[in-house]
Amino acid sequence: MIHPRHLFEDRGQGHVFRYFDELPPAQQDELTRQALTVDLDEIDHLVEILVNNPADSGITSHNVEPAEYISISTREQNPQQWQQAKAAGEQAIRDGRVAAFTVAGGQGTRLGFDGPKGTFPVSPVSGKPLFQIFAEKLAATEKRHQCTIPWFIMTSEGNHDDTLSFFQEHAYFGLKKENIHLFPQGTIPAVDSNGKILLTDKHLIALSPDGHGGSLRALVRSGATQIMKDKGIDILSCFQVDNPLVKCIDPVFIGFHLNNESQLSSKMVEKRSPDEKVGMFCKKDGSTCVIEYSDLPVELQHETEANGDLRFRAGSIAIHLFNRELIEQLGQAASEGSLPFHAARKKVPFLDTEGRFVEPEEANAIKFEMFIFDALPFADRPLVLETLREVEFSPVKNAEGEDSPETSRRDQLRKFARWLAAAGVEMPVNSDGTPKMAVEISPGFADSKETFVAAWKALETPPTLKDGLVLEA
Ligand code: UTP
Repeated sequence: MIHPRHLFEDRGQGHVFRYFDELPPAQQDELTRQALTVDLDEIDHLVEILVNNPADSGITSHNVEPAEYISISTREQNPQQWQQAKAAGEQAIRDGRVAAFTVAGGQGTRLGFDGPKGTFPVSPVSGKPLFQIFAEKLAATEKRHQCTIPWFIMTSEGNHDDTLSFFQEHAYFGLKKENIHLFPQGTIPAVDSNGKILLTDKHLIALSPDGHGGSLRALVRSGATQIMKDKGIDILSCFQVDNPLVKCIDPVFIGFHLNNESQLSSKMVEKRSPDEKVGMFCKKDGSTCVIEYSDLPVELQHETEANGDLRFRAGSIAIHLFNRELIEQLGQAASEGSLPFHAARKKVPFLDTEGRFVEPEEANAIKFEMFIFDALPFADRPLVLETLREVEFSPVKNAEGEDSPETSRRDQLRKFARWLAAAGVEMPVNSDGTPKMAVEISPGFADSKETFVAAWKALETPPTLKDGLVLEA
């Protein structure tokens, strides 16, 4: 077999092995192992199209328009349609056709938390970690529908072992171990502005996760799609690791997906403001897609309709239903039939040509990433369903400010207060609508307004509300 060193030399990437001869055997092996994971054809291609000759996004006011979506207002106008969707979704769940999928391979740099993001304590009173909230939501669905929901979790090389240990230490939060499948996503090297692969040490390539879109490849490569096939699962409910409000398995959403015979369905919320940095559901050249905030011309971001609503208002919250076949198709496709890569300029510590370790002050490198929503243009009959931000989306992205632990805590407390109000228990609130007492409702007690009202009414002696109360199953 040809040593990867020669393959790298042939592609002008021989510097990766510059220190090879001076390394101890274990480090030589490590570098060789890493090098073998690098697809040099792919890197050549990406350097050519994203570094040497980057094209602009090609998005203009002439080839892009807002995507159609099912408005939440139709829930009042056409309740039968929503009830029917819910019934269809519940049937699919009972029939064991649905699995859950969390993308948890990100580096979480903005939050600055030491550990996998899923281990971040997020619930407002008891400080349950994100993974536990999802586990309890899945358990509640399993119990209600007397079914099993396998849970796939994509980690990355950097956080896989810590994530697995976390689940083991917590006995899989009461879920059956055999139904939880953790697997790491792929990696891809960062390059400098000349397209040269960076090293972070004499024996280490600067590898980083290949983006949440890498999940489609990873689902196929890890055998997850095969497990789904063997179990008769054809719908994967996908969500990100940082949003405690997510409905991990939503029967209504599943019902709309099925009724529309969609291969890929997505949830959207109305954008908070024209400048909110979220991807937008659009139609480009006739195909539904998500366009990144930075790629949508500013005048379009601000354009309004006659009633004052933003014309491009459908913000993506990264909640999707994928048909298994679409994952299989895209996850094993050759590059032209698979998700495109995007390039991002980032600060990546590296070893310079003198072998010195440099921590750059400014972006020095290009990282390549795939985005899961880029599957949309490949999907038959994609569907976008509106939901309410306060009900389903309050992620923990930043250490402070918007989308931070503080705002997520506030939004969880407000949601629990609304559920209590629906059961006839009004909580005193501050002027911003945040309840004056912190009361937490665990998914085991109830996982929706409806189930809360029923569970609360079933209590013989409802507890006295007080600050710090946690309602458990
Ligand atoms: P983000 O875009 O918020 O990135 O990921 P991040 O890496 O978590 O955080 P920053 O940007 O470094 O602060 C959104 C979701 O996609 C997952 C994340 O774990 C999160 O659930 N993700 C992101 C992956 O699984 N893999 C990736 O390569 C990137």
